[in-house]
Amino acid sequence: AATGKGNYRHFMEKELHEHPVVIGETLRQYIDSTTRRVALPPLPFDPLVVPKLTITACGSAFLAGLVGRYWIESLARIPVDADTASELRYRDPPLPEGGAALLVSQSGETADTMAALRLLKGAGQSILSVVNVDESSMARESDTTLLTVAGPEIGVASTKAFTAQLSVLACLAIGMARARGTIDAAREAALIAALLELPSDAAALLDDNATIQALAVEVAEARDVLFLGRGNLYPIAMEGALKLKEISYIHAEGYAAGEMKHGPIALIDPAVPVIALCPSGPLLEKTASNLQEAAARGGRIMAFTDAEGAPALRRFAQHVIVLPTVDPFVAPILHAIPVQLLAYHVAVLRGTDVDQPRNLAKSVTVE
Ligand code: G6P
Repeated sequence: AATGKGNYRHFMEKELHEHPVVIGETLRQYIDSTTRRVALPPLPFDPLVVPKLTITACGSAFLAGLVGRYWIESLARIPVDADTASELRYRDPPLPEGGAALLVSQSGETADTMAALRLLKGAGQSILSVVNVDESSMARESDTTLLTVAGPEIGVASTKAFTAQLSVLACLAIGMARARGTIDAAREAALIAALLELPSDAAALLDDNATIQALAVEVAEARDVLFLGRGNLYPIAMEGALKLKEISYIHAEGYAAGEMKHGPIALIDPAVPVIALCPSGPLLEKTASNLQEAAARGGRIMAFTDAEGAPALRRFAQHVIVLPTVDPFVAPILHAIPVQLLAYHVAVLRGTDVDQPRNLAKSVTVE
């Protein structure tokens, strides 16, 4: 049945293997297959004049929202504020007339995100939400909902819903950029092509489970783990750390690579794996030099990159994991998969309750 585990050991494992299908199905909702252009339903605000977008959510959905901020600001040139719902709701931020809010949630029921929605609505913001459950409170109370096509997610730690959220947010950023004239047709076509390649890239990556499993054996021994990334990979570093904490109970931090020198570098010794997300692109050299600093202090570097980025990293990294080469714009979607897989394998090795980690709930409907 659709709700069974099939041949998988855990729901989380099954759901991880659904990434390619879920990304593909979600993109199919928002990219016209004949024109190969983004086709969004009418938005509740005009992207041409909206003064500010406030993104809010909780947990992994918030991290998807943070990637959305990078995409929307860089592509559509709309100012974005992003904050967790539990902070935003008490922060009393100035909200401009004609402003809009973007809520992200798998369940559509998270109490803090719902409270933020009502507050933002009360302050006159148009409400757009990215939700996985059609009949949820959030979908009902939003002006417009962009549904993710992830299907039911049973594992408490979000996996496939996360890449589905990213897929929608990428389409939204491209669609708004086109409406605002901040993207040209050639770049738009290149981004769409990159998105449409993701399902097969993701499938290739999931087939090569052995590499991640070997890495997991080392990570499972650690007490602390540092995840680093820059730009739109920074939220994915945080997602890697969050997943590891959630299901393996190993302490992990997700940090902006350039900020490491202002604190976490003090923790570095050979017992602390440093997991870096550094695909080739304009920021690779910067991240590589941060990693070299960590390596010089005995740090054990495990770097996720692509064929072009690998040679530079091999000079000092213990492990270089080569992912398919993709446009830097879509790299966060691809890189989310191995960090989630790694957390899964570490948790299995540690013998934790992968699908029902202690103290966590799938949907947190209390404040
Ligand atoms: C819980 C889950 C997380 C999820 C978060 C937000 O903490 O364990 O996996 O990211 O809630 O849930 P939502 O349904 O709003 O996406």
